[in-house]
Amino acid sequence: MSRVRTLEDYHTDYRHSVEDPDAFWAACAEEFTWHKKWDSVRGGEFSPAGASTWFAGAELNITENCLDRHLAQRGNKLAIIFEPNDPRTRHLRLTYRELHTQVCQMANVLKKNGVRKGDRVVLYLPMIPQLAIAVLACARVGAVHGVVFAGFSAHAIADRVNDAQAEFIITADALERGAKQIPVKSVVDEALALCPSVRRVLVVEHTGWPVDMREGRDAWLHDELVGVEKTCPAEPMAAEDPLFILYTSGSTGKPKGVVHSQAGYMVWADYTFRNVFQVEENDVYWCTADIGWVTGHTYGLYGPLLAGGTTLLFEGVPTFPSAGRFWEVIDKHHVTIFYTAPTAIRSLMATPIDNVLSYSLSSLRVLGSVGEPINEEAWHWYHQHVGKGRCPIVDTWWQTETGGIMISALAGITPSVPARAGLPLPGVQPVLLAQDGSEIEGNDQEGYLAIKGSWPGVIRTTWGDHERCQQTYFTPYPGYYFTGDGARRDENGLYRIIGRVDDVINVSGHRFGTAEIENAINQSEYVIESAVVGYPHDVKGQGIYAYVICAGGVPTTDIDVQRAEASIIEAVVAEIGRIAKPDKIQLVSGLPKTRSGKIMRRILRKVAEGETQALGDTTTLLDPLVVDEIVAGRK
Ligand code: PRX
Repeated sequence: MSRVRTLEDYHTDYRHSVEDPDAFWAACAEEFTWHKKWDSVRGGEFSPAGASTWFAGAELNITENCLDRHLAQRGNKLAIIFEPNDPRTRHLRLTYRELHTQVCQMANVLKKNGVRKGDRVVLYLPMIPQLAIAVLACARVGAVHGVVFAGFSAHAIADRVNDAQAEFIITADALERGAKQIPVKSVVDEALALCPSVRRVLVVEHTGWPVDMREGRDAWLHDELVGVEKTCPAEPMAAEDPLFILYTSGSTGKPKGVVHSQAGYMVWADYTFRNVFQVEENDVYWCTADIGWVTGHTYGLYGPLLAGGTTLLFEGVPTFPSAGRFWEVIDKHHVTIFYTAPTAIRSLMATPIDNVLSYSLSSLRVLGSVGEPINEEAWHWYHQHVGKGRCPIVDTWWQTETGGIMISALAGITPSVPARAGLPLPGVQPVLLAQDGSEIEGNDQEGYLAIKGSWPGVIRTTWGDHERCQQTYFTPYPGYYFTGDGARRDENGLYRIIGRVDDVINVSGHRFGTAEIENAINQSEYVIESAVVGYPHDVKGQGIYAYVICAGGVPTTDIDVQRAEASIIEAVVAEIGRIAKPDKIQLVSGLPKTRSGKIMRRILRKVAEGETQALGDTTTLLDPLVVDEIVAGRK
């Protein structure tokens, strides 16, 4: 039932999932361990806005399904292969039995430190096994994990900790990234000056970097682990109890905490993982995404473990010690399924071809792409040089809010065409909407991408502010989940994702709201006002272009320009982190505004894209001359 093996299966299952979703998903859910079965499969169906329950009344613990359930058959099978940043450091392998023990021990440490069911625990850790273990340990005791990507700044951590009202943090002394070591604990210390709710900080000793330990608040994880029990009963959780919060950017300045719950997320992660990648028992599967992003949650950790698979965690970067590292790791661990982002492919394409041609890559069977549209050139390079023409590529479209993959080829089964995500998965009913909210029928059409009807992995709420969830996703087009993306359905009914239709930019597969970056830029003492837009970037997909008005007007000397720009970058790094640094900064004397004071972003986007000839009607602007200045000073 829950495994599609042929195109005919796909069509049958798709029909079944739409005509009788309750029966379809109940059959999928049968395979799991439940403390108590559900009273109903689906509930809510987005009415009132955003309401959705799956498997209500059921009780379970997702870690029993990731770990305990596999012990009898797969106890000695590898669950995790850890490849460290430095290839000279020995890799680590954990069997299901070993991972089970380590998760139980970490869960006992959490309990000993006062973590209870429902408490929020923020994890700010490098991509090391302890991150995976900590995530699972939280789930084991029923705590809500909130992983914050270890590239975010102290301010960004503090915002998230405070929004989640987290009392517990797990972090590390430092992280290794390429040739560098980057302190981590000190960033947490800086954040915690702004976080009165935090009671306890557990610190993983990873690199040996010196840290300050605050008496009464901070403890070394290795000290806490001494003598703890090797088993820990799994806390029974209600199907709709929250499992995790993951912060993501939208069109307002403040990132929101997307909440996923237990049972629906579990069934969705497992179903989508096994079917999209067509996973077999002996696969070695590698998703390169950090666990700090949703891709790392669903396809680095939960999906593979639910399926009893072997997942590879990689601490490093694709270019260290050389741009052949990905391919070296694939050969070293005989990776069969490889899932990465177009930005990584494009950055490797730009290096000498020998970096990839000197590896055999003969173990590979399936390739995946995620995070942004993959351009045809990158698709063909990936197919030819990595997949050697023999591996199907799955271009998987989904979002933090959807919990798992929504539109994608099923490897080797449904059509995989360059620059198309493809057909919807069973259970997913995409529609294209016109501006007035009517459904656009037929093929060869373009519109706003929305989803009709609930699916098990849909976002349940935004932490602490349910109305925000309703307003962002469910009230723009009542009865639908609104994705914020535009899409085209081609002549064969395959979906092609065009990109965001809101003020969100996608930089190397990471989402930022333009307002969020503007807020950060405006923290610089030099800045009066700013406007940020995305523009096409060869490697990152989109780059960040900032138009900034400085106090005292446009600086006239090089040194003043440099000072202002450095201060702007510093402000973004402090507020969000290095990952949101503007690629281009243009200092301007004014911004194109309508008479009512609204910034005409359309014009700014066109200038950033280099389309300075076709700016459209500028006569309604308060000061049309400002456009000439902006065009003349374009970076
Ligand atoms: O615009 C789409 C783009 O990434 C957005 C979701 O970002 P995030 O929640 O950070 O999740 C990224 C990983 C799932 C979407 O709204 N996006 C994601 N995957 C694709 C994509 N755009 C085109 N093709 C994809 N395969």
